[in-house]
Amino acid sequence: MAKEKIEGCHICTLVTPGEPQVLLGKDKAFTYDFVFDRDSQQHEIYSACVEKLIEGCFEGYNATVFAYGQTGSGKTYTMGTGFDMNISAEEQGIIPRAIKHLFQGIEHRKGEAQERGEQAPEFKVSAQFLELTSSL
Ligand SMILES: Nc1ncnc2c1ncn2[C@@H]1O[C@H](COP(=O)(O)OP(=O)(O)OP(=O)(O)O)[C@@H](O)[C@H]1O
Ligand SMILES: [Mg+2]
Repeated sequence: MAKEKIEGCHICTLVTPGEPQVLLGKDKAFTYDFVFDRDSQQHEIYSACVEKLIEGCFEGYNATVFAYGQTGSGKTYTMGTGFDMNISAEEQGIIPRAIKHLFQGIEHRKGEAQERGEQAPEFKVSAQFLELTSSL
């Protein structure tokens, strides 16, 4: 953030090469299923972490994508709910991608049924949006 640059803040995390691990400072290592470094693109995050969850919806599984982190860490940016009109397609975040994926999946399944001469399956999509904020 511009404010952080002005304050002279510097990068304090390092991704261990070839490992899903973040180093905080010199000795605090945290290992996760996936770690994305600074130059990661939104589509990489989507295809690694979210795509399968949307496909899972069609198999009847529930899924949650939860963004957690301190202020300015990029939750809104990564989830894609800033709804900045000037945002490029590459910068679209998780929610717009997931919605598009879901409706494409529905159309695809309807089309497939039609091709087989079967009655098109019915889908019901309901959405809720909740953003929790906390100031400590
Ligand atoms: N990966 C990124 N690449 C480029 N810009 C980013 C990235 N992540 C965040 N930003 C930018 O950094 C700023 C802060 O990010 P964002 O608003 O997403 O943080 P946040 O975690 O939602 O914060 P808050 O808890 O205050 O809502 C925004 O201007 C956003 O566009
Ligand atoms: Mg936010």
